[in-house]
Amino acid sequence: MSAQSWLRTTMSRLLFDEPQVRLRAGDLPVAPHFADLESLGLYLHIPFCAQICPYCPYNKELFRARVAERYTAAVKREVDQYAAAVGDRPITSFYIGGGTPTSMLHAGLGPILEHVYRSFKMQCPIHLESHPNDLSAENLRAIRALGVEHLSIGIEALQDRHLRTLGRPYTAAMARAAIERAVGMGFTSVNTDLIFALPGQSADELAEECRKLIALGVDQLATYPLFTFPYTKWPELSAKHGYHQASLIERRRLLRIIEEACHAAGYERTSVWAFTRAGVPKYCSVTVPVYLGLGASGSSYLHDIFYLNTFNVAEYIRALEAGRLPIALSLPLTRRMQMAGWLYWRMYETRFSKADFEQRFHEAFDAVYGAYLRPLCALGLVQEEGQAVRLTDPGAYWLHVVQDLFSIDYVSTLWGTSKKQPWPREVVLR
Ligand SMILES: C[S@@+](CC[C@H](N)C(=O)[O-])C[C@H]1O[C@@H](n2cnc3c(N)ncnc32)[C@H](O)[C@@H]1O
Ligand code: SF4
Repeated sequence: MSAQSWLRTTMSRLLFDEPQVRLRAGDLPVAPHFADLESLGLYLHIPFCAQICPYCPYNKELFRARVAERYTAAVKREVDQYAAAVGDRPITSFYIGGGTPTSMLHAGLGPILEHVYRSFKMQCPIHLESHPNDLSAENLRAIRALGVEHLSIGIEALQDRHLRTLGRPYTAAMARAAIERAVGMGFTSVNTDLIFALPGQSADELAEECRKLIALGVDQLATYPLFTFPYTKWPELSAKHGYHQASLIERRRLLRIIEEACHAAGYERTSVWAFTRAGVPKYCSVTVPVYLGLGASGSSYLHDIFYLNTFNVAEYIRALEAGRLPIALSLPLTRRMQMAGWLYWRMYETRFSKADFEQRFHEAFDAVYGAYLRPLCALGLVQEEGQAVRLTDPGAYWLHVVQDLFSIDYVSTLWGTSKKQPWPREVVLR
């Protein structure tokens, strides 16, 4: 057993009394899992892109109009399958991710959204991920006309040489122009994604990128270090070109540069990786406590269960055409797992109220996690003010280390297997 996997097993035992996490195949009656929900979030996955980036772990394939058409019909069928279980519970967040959602802007996205709005009680704005190459003025107007209030743009880098390394099909000037058009379009918030710790990237280059994005008027910066997923083309490319992978210490140094640039401009940390202009609602992702996931590879996180749709687009369509939900794997969540999951995602958002924990689990937060929180406070990683708990900047870095330890391996195993096998019998995360 590697040191990393030993640490993971030990932490899993400590946090939720299980040494490993086992997801299993099988039919699932979903309705009972909605019964005790007051409201929920909605996630829709669009698994198509105009081109495939070598580092990208997400579930996607090249866009084909004919497949997008069948996918549109399949997503509508999936919505219909959930209509009775969801009933008139309010949907309080709606996130459309991918892949590249804007690849379906003129190929089914509108009809899917109309169907979602007809079928569910939507009480929230739409958050949409987009690719810079899709953001002509005309397309931005079409996005606004769909009712999108929060737009995220996958900028990734603002220097041509880094865009080339990542295989992104645009120049820094084109990326800047796309941001300028989007910022002037009246969205409630515009988020830009930036990948850092790129091969050969200097601290000065990163600071300049942050300053430029802020000067362009973006409301939020989401910055991720370049993660390596073993099932992507990146390890091969990296070996071929002899790329150096940034260590945790180097990432810490670069993250500090981002923190400095953002704090200096009055942006507040709103998640481990995101900084939002003060007073602007944050561009939310799927860190909402309870959500239903639609689309190929869409995952659902309800109170007592986590489940995942098949990643395979053809199989996803086939299942729905046959009148079946396309659920491939599921994991019943013990109470300890529910609590640990809740705490992880609230920490990820960098702040939470103990009262929210108590409302959700009917147990005092301190009785369950007080013993863990006290040393974290003493180390300056977390601050407590009455009911409010806040992650400090050093705390955010250490959460990133934990994320590195768990999520990257878990995601690699779960997504890597799901990409290879449409209907895996079992996936064990250890
Ligand atoms: C689904 S993509 C965004 C939308 C669109 N597909 C695009 O690429 O412009 C989500 C984001 O994940 C981040 N991402 C993708 N692969 C990554 C990796 N290997 N390491 C770190 N961040 C990554 C990028 O910042 C990307 O914008
Ligand atoms: S990074 Fe975006 S555009 Fe590139 S393959 Fe991934 S989802 Fe598609």
